[in-house]
Amino acid sequence: VAGSLWGGRFTDGPSDALRALSRSTHFDWALAHYDIAGSKAHAEALAAGGYLTPDDRAALDAALDRIDAQVSDGSLVPGPDDEDVHAVLEQALLQEAGPELGGRLRAGRSRNDQIATLVRLYLRDHVRVIGLQVIDLIDALAAQADANFGAILPGRTHLQHAQPVLLAHHLLAHAWPLVRDLQRLGDWGRRADASPYGSGALAGSSLGLDDALVAERLGFSRTVENSIDGTAARDVVAEFAFVAAMIGVDLSRLAEDVILWSTRDVGFARLHDSWSTGSSIMPQKKNPDIAELARGKAGRLVGDLTGLLTTLKGLPLAYNRDLQEDKEPVFDQVATLETLLPAVTGLIATLRFDTARMAESAPQGYSLATDVAEWLVKQGVPFRDAHEITGALVSAAEARGVGLDGLDDDELQRVSPSLTPEVRSVLSAEGSVASRTGVSGTAPDRVRQQLASLTEQVRVV
Ligand code: ARG
Repeated sequence: VAGSLWGGRFTDGPSDALRALSRSTHFDWALAHYDIAGSKAHAEALAAGGYLTPDDRAALDAALDRIDAQVSDGSLVPGPDDEDVHAVLEQALLQEAGPELGGRLRAGRSRNDQIATLVRLYLRDHVRVIGLQVIDLIDALAAQADANFGAILPGRTHLQHAQPVLLAHHLLAHAWPLVRDLQRLGDWGRRADASPYGSGALAGSSLGLDDALVAERLGFSRTVENSIDGTAARDVVAEFAFVAAMIGVDLSRLAEDVILWSTRDVGFARLHDSWSTGSSIMPQKKNPDIAELARGKAGRLVGDLTGLLTTLKGLPLAYNRDLQEDKEPVFDQVATLETLLPAVTGLIATLRFDTARMAESAPQGYSLATDVAEWLVKQGVPFRDAHEITGALVSAAEARGVGLDGLDDDELQRVSPSLTPEVRSVLSAEGSVASRTGVSGTAPDRVRQQLASLTEQVRVV
């Protein structure tokens, strides 16, 4: 079959429906440069093994460079009948180097070990891009924490006012998962750092080629140790897909806060014009579309992971064509994250916080009750009793429609003789925050240390 990588034993060509189903050039063309890099490394191994003369290798190299330039300038693109990236590039090579020389390069390799290698190369490059984008977002969160350092936020559990915290503490709580995502990308890189090239179709090659040389030329520190594993495994791809999905989930939790903070009722943050959108009918509207798209795209990123894992489940060793389905999910994740992350970073970097409104809200909802209970513990009251007493105090204040600091000395005494006027020393959000001095606590000194530690950990990833 003309232009095909196989056909010697076939008398009829593929049907149109088969071609349409089988074709992958509309997505795997993204791997063309990696395929050519693999071919150049493979030509070197063939020459080292005595299968190409130095002149032949030089001619192949030059032909591959010309093809690389044609891919870059768009003069070489897949045609409608091409099956995959490998087929297009082999046809181009037969043209550029002639059928005799061009036909020598396929010795000792298979599309199965090629594709397993190329997807790692592709992901390795994009992991770098995504990692830097994640760092930008962490930096934006850290910068906002620093710029609004003294601001106090009503910390919530169950979305209800719980205890006051520094806004900086809360922002850094969004940054830490991203730091771990960054570390996960680094871990991924260490596991993905093995070249499957040389695994052949599944059993390795009989030509005695130097697979370690190919690995080194492609920037891997080692080769895989089992050719079946090299061609069949996709856990490296799935692991990337997990980290990408996790980043999406972390972005969506951050986005949810921005959506909540920018509502009229909460009003803790205002969106910058350039990072928000309007309405086609309601002239007054300013919408947090970036945050909503982040929340929405998290579903898509998780779906990509789920689809890939489902494809892999129950697949027999070694290569099966199902494995062609590994690429679109992660290509989609890469495109999604690389578009989403800069937008979320801009959204965060340009938020304007209404710290006065936050400060006003922080002590509301009796969020200082835990401080009263802990103050009682410091006076020697067992926590169980302190909890009861403080509950009664909240109830008394609620009945009068005042905050805890709105009760006079007599009212305090009526709730419990332990509630002396000194309890008022803990009835401020600032006092509450300052008292939480445990290592991970929200006291300003601790949060300063936390910010420094986070910055250092990002630096060494
Ligand atoms: N295009 C395939 C993939 O993406 C690689 C080709 C392997 N095809 C084959 N029949 N063994 O996985």
